[in-house]
Amino acid sequence: MKNRKIIFANQKGGVGKSTLCILFANYLAWKKQDVCVIDTDLQKTIKMQRRKDMELYEGQEEPYVVQDFDVQDPETMQQLMDSASNTEGYVLFDSPGNVSEDGLVPMFTNADFIVCPYEYEEKTLDSTGTFVQVINALRQHTPEMTAKLFFVPNRIDVRIGTKNELDMWKQTDAIFKQLGAVTPRITARAALKRINTVEITAAQREAVKPAFDFMIRRMKE
Ligand SMILES: Nc1ncnc2c1ncn2[C@@H]1O[C@H](COP(=O)(O)OP(=O)(O)OP(=O)(O)O)[C@@H](O)[C@H]1O
Ligand SMILES: [Mg+2]
Repeated sequence: MKNRKIIFANQKGGVGKSTLCILFANYLAWKKQDVCVIDTDLQKTIKMQRRKDMELYEGQEEPYVVQDFDVQDPETMQQLMDSASNTEGYVLFDSPGNVSEDGLVPMFTNADFIVCPYEYEEKTLDSTGTFVQVINALRQHTPEMTAKLFFVPNRIDVRIGTKNELDMWKQTDAIFKQLGAVTPRITARAALKRINTVEITAAQREAVKPAFDFMIRRMKE
């Protein structure tokens, strides 16, 4: 199968980068696709979760590899990206918030896709806008950069939505659509708070299916 390097990124903290990275890996593994995760976040959220899971699910085989990686200089990151390019299937990267760090540049310039979760909330939209500017600046400096952007509206509270809010949501999506693809929304729900790196429940699959099927379809094109 073709290789795809996919970075979960947004300089805004807590928007669901690690959560969606784990869920996407679980979803792909459930669909019997080749997938592995590289955890470049300093907090090592995913690697630590996997460790916990392996104690809990003692004896069970890991459905996919989770590899942690300490971001240092651009040369080492380039080597990581080169070896990721030689890996079959989907290679997912969870990234730290600070996108402007030098060592991270090769991760973005070598990516096939950048998945950017966001919420409809003023501060988040500001940081997401800044994040997009950083990505665009990288594109200008790096003609060989081809990464396509997916914007994933996450943690949507379906109960709220005054006319003003709905208008803001619409305007935001219209802006992001000019820069990449906006996926179907992922709602806020308790089932998505209780995740592990071993299996995906039916309720979780149902919550992420529209967004993830949309991404998978586009990633095959
Ligand atoms: N759709 C959702 N529904 C409910 N809770 C969610 C959803 N998405 C994320 N969360 C919760 O939001 C919190 C932040 O998510 P997560 O840690 O994935 O964000 P992050 O972008 O990786 O943060 P950081 O920048 O710190 O790495 C977590 O507690 C997670 O469980
Ligand atoms: Mg995280």
